[in-house]
Amino acid sequence: MDKSNLRVNGKRLRMSLEEMAKIGGTPGGGVERLAHSDEDKTARDLFVSWLKEIHCDVTVDEMGNIFGRRKGEKESLPTVMSGSHVDSQPRGGRFDGILGVMGMLEVMRTLHDNGIVTKRPVTIVDWTNEEGSRFAPAMIASGVWAGKLDRDWAYGRTDKNGKKQGDELARIGYKGKQPAKAFPVHAYYEYHIEQGPILERESKTIGAPKGILCLHWYDIYLTGTANQVGPTPMEGRNDTLCSAAEMILAVNRVAHQLGNMVATVGEIQNYPNSRNIIPDKVHFTVDIRSWDDGHALRAWDLLKKEFNIIAERRSTPIRMEETWRVEHAPFNDKLVRRVLESAEELGYSSHYMVSGAGHDASYMNQICPTAMIFIPSKNGRSHVEVEESTWEDCEAGANILLQCILKSADES
Ligand code: GLV
Ligand code: MN
Ligand code: MN
Repeated sequence: MDKSNLRVNGKRLRMSLEEMAKIGGTPGGGVERLAHSDEDKTARDLFVSWLKEIHCDVTVDEMGNIFGRRKGEKESLPTVMSGSHVDSQPRGGRFDGILGVMGMLEVMRTLHDNGIVTKRPVTIVDWTNEEGSRFAPAMIASGVWAGKLDRDWAYGRTDKNGKKQGDELARIGYKGKQPAKAFPVHAYYEYHIEQGPILERESKTIGAPKGILCLHWYDIYLTGTANQVGPTPMEGRNDTLCSAAEMILAVNRVAHQLGNMVATVGEIQNYPNSRNIIPDKVHFTVDIRSWDDGHALRAWDLLKKEFNIIAERRSTPIRMEETWRVEHAPFNDKLVRRVLESAEELGYSSHYMVSGAGHDASYMNQICPTAMIFIPSKNGRSHVEVEESTWEDCEAGANILLQCILKSADES
């Protein structure tokens, strides 16, 4: 058969997404499937059972990454790969990550149903802990797999309750035996919702990002003096939450002032967190992103200076840690053009853009030709329960993925 006429089954894709959305489903219509939670395990189990139905060779590596491999005509040739993640943010959406996994599953099912033979093997992947919300940083398991992060450091990362990532991975039964070590990949595609407003604003169905912004994460720790709020005069307090408040506003201001970047404080822990105790310990996070890595670093330099001044003035000693840094990822031109061309061939409108959200594709881009396929996010909302994309767009993106996979998998 002419492979260019092959299309996915949109109804079946919708059913897989709806089935997955039940796992960790929240009353607000989203999902909560934190990395290494029971819900993560249930979603993984279902995913693996679906892979077995289409006779994929399933392996789980020591970071819990799940690979499903479909044989190629020439087994010695490097595989073509696609996937994303099944974990989610707390009270997150039902498309982020899972669309890329279910979209590729639908592609694999379509190949299976039609008895398609590809020259190269084709592999689907579910990357462990893409979100980095429970265990920082994000994309940690693709980072280890690509040789950019250390496995034991990753195992030792702790959540808010002091639980270790390695132990939690073992607890859910996904600390596999296979080394988390890159094998040769001919091309990697990641299919994802845009998570921003551009495609909707431009009325375009398919987005082809030229790459992903750099991501810099920092952790800030402040210490002060706890005391009874009533008898303690305002003068001379060492109130860590006041220091943090000034610093948080500085993060927002510096991003506005410098432009071409975004900077966010999204997480804060305040201790002892009682309305009638002056806080003596605060931890908060800083996330800085830009297409220009040097620009992001300049912002951090300015912030570091300002944080030190605030901490000094308020007598709240500060400790700053750089937790994670990933360079901006300019994707492979040929693969990005392939996404745009496939959209044209299938009659979908498309848009060349940039990804502000982080994806495992960032690390994959460091070891093999990589590109992504985006579809619109309703009202540009993501990492929230109301995250939404239309079923038609989900199907359109999966068809683009199918065509891109077929083209790459038949290259010699
Ligand atoms: C990943 O979800 C990110 O932080 O962009
Ligand atoms: Mn994602
Ligand atoms: Mn996400």
